[in-house]
Amino acid sequence: MTHRHFLEIDDLTDDELSAVLDASEKASSEVLARTGVALIFEKPSLRTRNSCEMAVVALGGHPVYITDTEISLDKRETVEDAIRTLNGYYGVFAARVFEHSKLERMVSVARHPVINLLSDSGHPVQALADLLTIRQAFGSLQGLSIGWVGDFSNVARSLALGALSLGVSFRFAGPAQYGPTPKDCDRIRALSRHGATLSVYTQPSDAVSGAQVVSTDAWYSMGQEGEKEVRRLAMKGCTVDSSLMAIAAPDAIFLHCLPAHRDEEATTEVLDGSQSRIWQQAHNRMHSFRGLLLWLHEQG
Ligand code: CP
Ligand code: NVA
Repeated sequence: MTHRHFLEIDDLTDDELSAVLDASEKASSEVLARTGVALIFEKPSLRTRNSCEMAVVALGGHPVYITDTEISLDKRETVEDAIRTLNGYYGVFAARVFEHSKLERMVSVARHPVINLLSDSGHPVQALADLLTIRQAFGSLQGLSIGWVGDFSNVARSLALGALSLGVSFRFAGPAQYGPTPKDCDRIRALSRHGATLSVYTQPSDAVSGAQVVSTDAWYSMGQEGEKEVRRLAMKGCTVDSSLMAIAAPDAIFLHCLPAHRDEEATTEVLDGSQSRIWQQAHNRMHSFRGLLLWLHEQG
Protein backbone atom coordinates (compact mmCIF):
# COMPACT_ATOMS: atom_id res chain seq x y z
CA MET A 1 0.00 0.00 0.00
CA THR A 2 1.39 3.40 -0.91
CA HIS A 3 0.96 6.34 1.40
CA ARG A 4 0.93 10.05 0.83
CA HIS A 5 3.93 11.84 2.28
CA PHE A 6 4.46 15.53 3.02
CA LEU A 7 8.09 16.44 2.50
CA GLU A 8 7.32 19.71 0.72
CA ILE A 9 4.27 21.81 -0.11
CA ASP A 10 4.26 20.70 -3.74
CA ASP A 11 3.62 17.10 -2.66
CA LEU A 12 0.01 18.40 -2.58
CA THR A 13 -1.95 19.86 -5.48
CA ASP A 14 -3.49 23.30 -5.01
CA ASP A 15 -6.87 21.69 -4.28
CA GLU A 16 -5.32 19.31 -1.76
CA LEU A 17 -3.53 22.19 -0.07
CA SER A 18 -6.83 24.07 0.24
CA ALA A 19 -8.44 20.91 1.62
CA VAL A 20 -5.74 20.70 4.33
CA LEU A 21 -6.40 24.35 5.26
CA ASP A 22 -10.13 23.58 5.44
CA ALA A 23 -9.44 20.51 7.60
CA SER A 24 -7.38 22.74 9.94
CA GLU A 25 -10.56 24.60 10.85
CA LYS A 26 -12.58 21.42 11.47
CA ALA A 27 -13.32 20.10 14.94
CA SER A 28 -11.12 17.27 16.20
CA SER A 29 -12.21 13.67 15.84
CA GLU A 30 -10.52 10.59 17.26
CA VAL A 31 -9.25 9.29 13.92
CA LEU A 32 -5.84 8.42 15.37
CA ALA A 33 -7.19 6.45 18.36
CA ARG A 34 -4.45 4.08 19.58
CA THR A 35 -2.15 5.17 16.74
CA GLY A 36 1.42 6.13 17.56
CA VAL A 37 3.04 9.15 15.89
CA ALA A 38 6.85 9.21 15.99
CA LEU A 39 8.15 12.78 16.23
CA ILE A 40 11.86 12.55 15.42
CA PHE A 41 14.04 15.62 16.06
CA GLU A 42 17.69 16.09 15.08
CA LYS A 43 17.45 19.80 16.00
CA PRO A 44 15.78 21.72 18.86
CA SER A 45 12.16 22.87 18.70
CA LEU A 46 9.60 24.69 20.82
CA ARG A 47 6.61 25.23 18.51
CA THR A 48 6.90 22.19 16.28
CA ARG A 49 7.39 19.64 19.02
CA ASN A 50 4.61 20.99 21.26
CA SER A 51 2.06 21.83 18.54
CA CYS A 52 2.51 18.44 16.88
CA GLU A 53 2.24 16.52 20.14
CA MET A 54 -0.97 18.30 21.08
CA ALA A 55 -2.45 17.91 17.59
CA VAL A 56 -1.88 14.15 17.84
CA VAL A 57 -3.48 14.12 21.30
CA ALA A 58 -6.50 16.02 19.90
CA LEU A 59 -6.99 13.24 17.34
CA GLY A 60 -6.78 10.53 20.00
CA GLY A 61 -3.29 9.36 19.00
CA HIS A 62 -0.13 8.88 21.01
CA PRO A 63 2.85 11.12 20.18
CA VAL A 64 6.36 10.01 21.08
CA TYR A 65 9.12 12.66 21.06
CA ILE A 66 12.37 11.07 19.90
CA THR A 67 15.55 13.14 19.99
CA ASP A 68 18.90 12.46 18.41
CA THR A 69 20.15 11.19 21.78
CA GLU A 70 17.92 8.13 21.38
CA ILE A 71 17.90 7.61 17.63
CA SER A 72 21.25 9.12 16.54
CA LEU A 73 20.42 8.77 12.84
CA ASP A 74 23.24 7.29 10.75
CA LYS A 75 25.48 7.07 13.79
CA ARG A 76 23.92 4.40 16.00
CA GLU A 77 22.19 2.81 13.00
CA THR A 78 21.19 3.91 9.53
CA VAL A 79 18.10 5.99 8.86
CA GLU A 80 16.67 3.04 6.94
CA ASP A 81 17.22 0.53 9.78
CA ALA A 82 15.71 2.92 12.34
CA ILE A 83 12.56 3.44 10.24
CA ARG A 84 12.26 -0.28 9.38
CA THR A 85 12.19 -0.92 13.13
CA LEU A 86 9.73 1.88 13.91
CA ASN A 87 7.45 0.70 11.06
CA GLY A 88 6.16 -1.96 13.45
CA TYR A 89 5.22 0.44 16.24
CA TYR A 90 3.85 3.61 14.64
CA GLY A 91 1.22 4.79 12.15
CA VAL A 92 2.79 8.15 11.18
CA PHE A 93 6.38 9.43 11.05
CA ALA A 94 7.31 13.09 11.33
CA ALA A 95 10.91 14.27 11.42
CA ARG A 96 13.06 17.40 11.73
CA VAL A 97 16.43 16.72 10.11
CA PHE A 98 19.51 18.54 8.88
CA GLU A 99 19.73 17.00 5.40
CA HIS A 100 16.49 16.79 3.42
CA SER A 101 17.83 13.56 1.87
CA LYS A 102 17.28 11.82 5.24
CA LEU A 103 13.53 12.37 4.81
CA GLU A 104 13.67 10.89 1.31
CA ARG A 105 15.52 7.88 2.72
CA MET A 106 12.80 7.51 5.37
CA VAL A 107 10.16 7.51 2.62
CA SER A 108 12.06 4.77 0.76
CA VAL A 109 11.43 2.26 3.60
CA ALA A 110 8.45 3.74 5.52
CA ARG A 111 5.18 1.80 5.61
CA HIS A 112 3.40 4.94 6.88
CA PRO A 113 3.18 8.64 5.91
CA VAL A 114 6.36 10.69 6.46
CA ILE A 115 6.00 14.40 7.30
CA ASN A 116 8.80 16.99 7.10
CA LEU A 117 9.04 18.97 10.36
CA LEU A 118 11.87 21.15 8.89
CA SER A 119 14.91 20.28 6.87
CA ASP A 120 17.72 22.32 5.35
CA SER A 121 15.47 22.71 2.32
CA GLY A 122 11.95 23.37 3.60
CA HIS A 123 9.51 23.80 6.47
CA PRO A 124 6.17 22.88 4.88
CA VAL A 125 4.21 22.44 8.11
CA GLN A 126 5.15 26.03 8.96
CA ALA A 127 3.88 27.17 5.56
CA LEU A 128 0.50 25.51 6.29
CA ALA A 129 0.16 27.63 9.46
CA ASP A 130 1.29 30.76 7.61
CA LEU A 131 -1.24 30.28 4.81
CA LEU A 132 -3.99 29.51 7.32
CA THR A 133 -3.18 32.70 9.25
CA ILE A 134 -3.22 34.78 6.05
CA ARG A 135 -6.51 33.21 4.95
CA GLN A 136 -8.05 33.95 8.35
CA ALA A 137 -6.91 37.59 8.15
CA PHE A 138 -8.22 38.30 4.64
CA GLY A 139 -10.98 35.71 4.20
CA SER A 140 -9.37 34.28 1.05
CA LEU A 141 -5.92 34.01 -0.49
CA GLN A 142 -6.15 34.56 -4.24
CA GLY A 143 -4.73 37.90 -5.41
CA LEU A 144 -2.79 38.76 -2.22
CA SER A 145 0.95 39.32 -2.13
CA ILE A 146 3.61 38.47 0.45
CA GLY A 147 6.71 40.67 0.82
CA TRP A 148 9.53 38.54 2.26
CA VAL A 149 12.64 40.33 3.54
CA GLY A 150 16.07 38.92 4.48
CA ASP A 151 17.07 35.29 3.99
CA PHE A 152 15.36 32.98 1.51
CA SER A 153 15.33 30.30 4.23
CA ASN A 154 13.73 26.86 4.37
CA VAL A 155 10.62 28.65 5.71
CA ALA A 156 10.60 31.13 2.82
CA ARG A 157 11.00 28.37 0.22
CA SER A 158 8.01 26.37 1.51
CA LEU A 159 5.87 29.49 1.87
CA ALA A 160 6.71 30.65 -1.66
CA LEU A 161 5.76 27.23 -3.09
CA GLY A 162 2.45 27.25 -1.19
CA ALA A 163 1.71 30.87 -1.94
CA LEU A 164 2.03 30.68 -5.73
CA SER A 165 0.08 27.45 -5.85
CA LEU A 166 -2.85 29.20 -4.08
CA GLY A 167 -2.72 32.35 -6.22
CA VAL A 168 -0.66 34.52 -3.83
CA SER A 169 2.31 36.45 -5.25
CA PHE A 170 5.65 36.22 -3.44
CA ARG A 171 8.09 39.13 -3.52
CA PHE A 172 11.52 38.45 -2.06
CA ALA A 173 14.11 41.09 -1.15
CA GLY A 174 17.52 40.43 0.34
CA PRO A 175 21.16 39.99 -0.56
CA ALA A 176 21.40 38.09 -3.87
CA GLN A 177 23.62 35.37 -2.38
CA TYR A 178 20.88 34.54 0.15
CA GLY A 179 18.04 34.72 -2.35
CA PRO A 180 16.27 31.96 -4.29
CA THR A 181 18.39 30.04 -6.81
CA PRO A 182 17.30 29.78 -10.46
CA LYS A 183 16.19 26.22 -9.63
CA ASP A 184 14.05 27.52 -6.74
CA CYS A 185 12.52 30.16 -9.03
CA ASP A 186 11.64 27.59 -11.71
CA ARG A 187 10.07 25.23 -9.18
CA ILE A 188 8.04 28.01 -7.54
CA ARG A 189 6.90 29.61 -10.81
CA ALA A 190 5.83 26.23 -12.20
CA LEU A 191 3.19 26.07 -9.44
CA SER A 192 1.66 29.48 -10.16
CA ARG A 193 -2.14 29.65 -10.25
CA HIS A 194 -4.44 32.61 -10.92
CA GLY A 195 -1.63 34.84 -12.21
CA ALA A 196 0.45 34.79 -9.00
CA THR A 197 4.06 35.84 -9.57
CA LEU A 198 7.47 35.46 -7.93
CA SER A 199 9.66 38.59 -7.90
CA VAL A 200 13.22 38.85 -6.64
CA TYR A 201 14.65 42.20 -5.47
CA THR A 202 17.50 43.42 -3.31
CA GLN A 203 15.74 46.47 -1.78
CA PRO A 204 13.26 45.58 1.02
CA SER A 205 10.96 48.45 -0.03
CA ASP A 206 10.49 46.85 -3.47
CA ALA A 207 9.21 43.63 -1.89
CA VAL A 208 7.04 45.22 0.77
CA SER A 209 5.45 48.16 -1.06
CA GLY A 210 1.68 47.51 -1.18
CA ALA A 211 2.00 43.90 0.09
CA GLN A 212 -0.79 42.51 2.30
CA VAL A 213 1.64 40.27 4.19
CA VAL A 214 5.15 41.13 5.37
CA SER A 215 7.26 38.25 6.61
CA THR A 216 10.80 37.36 7.54
CA ASP A 217 12.85 34.66 9.31
CA ALA A 218 16.09 34.49 11.28
CA TRP A 219 19.08 35.64 9.22
CA TYR A 220 20.94 32.45 10.20
CA SER A 221 19.13 29.17 10.64
CA MET A 222 19.90 26.24 12.92
CA GLY A 223 23.19 24.83 11.70
CA GLN A 224 24.32 28.18 10.22
CA GLU A 225 25.46 29.73 13.51
CA GLY A 226 29.05 29.81 12.22
CA GLU A 227 27.93 32.23 9.48
CA LYS A 228 26.22 34.55 11.97
CA GLU A 229 28.55 37.55 11.60
CA VAL A 230 28.89 37.30 7.80
CA ARG A 231 25.12 37.05 7.42
CA ARG A 232 24.45 39.91 9.86
CA LEU A 233 26.71 42.13 7.79
CA ALA A 234 25.11 41.07 4.50
CA MET A 235 21.56 41.57 5.82
CA LYS A 236 22.21 45.11 7.05
CA GLY A 237 19.20 47.19 5.98
CA CYS A 238 16.89 44.16 5.94
CA THR A 239 15.36 44.67 9.41
CA VAL A 240 11.57 44.88 9.19
CA ASP A 241 10.76 48.07 11.08
CA SER A 242 7.79 50.44 11.37
CA SER A 243 8.90 52.55 8.42
CA LEU A 244 8.98 49.46 6.18
CA MET A 245 5.56 48.33 7.48
CA ALA A 246 4.23 51.82 6.67
CA ILE A 247 4.71 51.24 2.91
CA ALA A 248 2.90 47.87 2.94
CA ALA A 249 -0.86 47.78 2.29
CA PRO A 250 -2.78 49.73 4.98
CA ASP A 251 -4.33 46.49 6.30
CA ALA A 252 -1.07 44.50 6.03
CA ILE A 253 -0.21 41.85 8.61
CA PHE A 254 3.25 40.87 9.84
CA LEU A 255 4.28 37.21 10.19
CA HIS A 256 7.38 35.51 11.62
CA CYS A 257 7.71 31.75 12.10
CA LEU A 258 9.66 32.30 15.37
CA PRO A 259 11.98 32.05 17.20
CA ALA A 260 12.73 35.73 16.57
CA HIS A 261 15.98 37.55 17.16
CA ARG A 262 14.37 40.75 18.36
CA ASP A 263 15.67 43.93 16.70
CA GLU A 264 17.64 41.90 14.17
CA GLU A 265 15.37 40.60 11.37
CA ALA A 266 12.41 42.55 12.83
CA THR A 267 12.10 45.23 15.48
CA THR A 268 10.33 44.59 18.77
CA GLU A 269 7.94 47.37 17.76
CA VAL A 270 6.85 45.38 14.69
CA LEU A 271 6.87 41.97 16.42
CA ASP A 272 4.64 43.30 19.20
CA GLY A 273 2.77 45.86 17.06
CA SER A 274 -0.90 45.93 16.06
CA GLN A 275 -0.21 44.44 12.60
CA SER A 276 1.65 41.45 14.01
CA ARG A 277 -0.13 38.06 13.88
CA ILE A 278 2.81 36.04 15.22
CA TRP A 279 0.98 34.44 18.15
CA GLN A 280 -2.03 33.44 16.05
CA GLN A 281 0.48 32.08 13.52
CA ALA A 282 2.29 30.07 16.24
CA HIS A 283 -1.02 28.72 17.56
CA ASN A 284 -2.11 27.81 14.04
CA ARG A 285 0.85 25.40 13.95
CA MET A 286 -1.28 23.05 16.07
CA HIS A 287 -4.49 23.51 14.08
CA SER A 288 -2.79 23.08 10.72
CA PHE A 289 -0.85 20.00 11.82
CA ARG A 290 -4.13 18.49 13.07
CA GLY A 291 -5.66 19.36 9.68
CA LEU A 292 -2.77 17.70 7.86
CA LEU A 293 -3.06 14.53 9.95
CA LEU A 294 -6.82 14.43 9.37
CA TRP A 295 -6.32 14.86 5.63
CA LEU A 296 -3.57 12.19 5.49
CA HIS A 297 -5.82 9.84 7.44
CA GLU A 298 -8.60 10.36 4.88
CA GLN A 299 -6.17 9.44 2.07
CA GLY A 300 -5.85 5.97 3.66
N1 CP B 1 8.65 27.85 13.90
C1 CP B 1 9.20 26.72 14.38
O1 CP B 1 9.31 25.70 13.69
O2 CP B 1 9.61 26.82 15.67
P1 CP B 1 10.43 25.70 16.48
O3 CP B 1 11.80 25.63 15.86
O4 CP B 1 10.44 26.17 17.89
O5 CP B 1 9.72 24.38 16.32
N1 NVA C 1 14.96 29.02 9.29
C1 NVA C 1 14.88 28.63 10.69
C2 NVA C 1 13.48 28.32 11.06
C3 NVA C 1 13.27 27.91 12.48
C4 NVA C 1 11.86 27.53 12.78
C5 NVA C 1 15.82 27.45 10.94
O1 NVA C 1 15.88 26.55 10.11
O2 NVA C 1 16.47 27.46 11.98
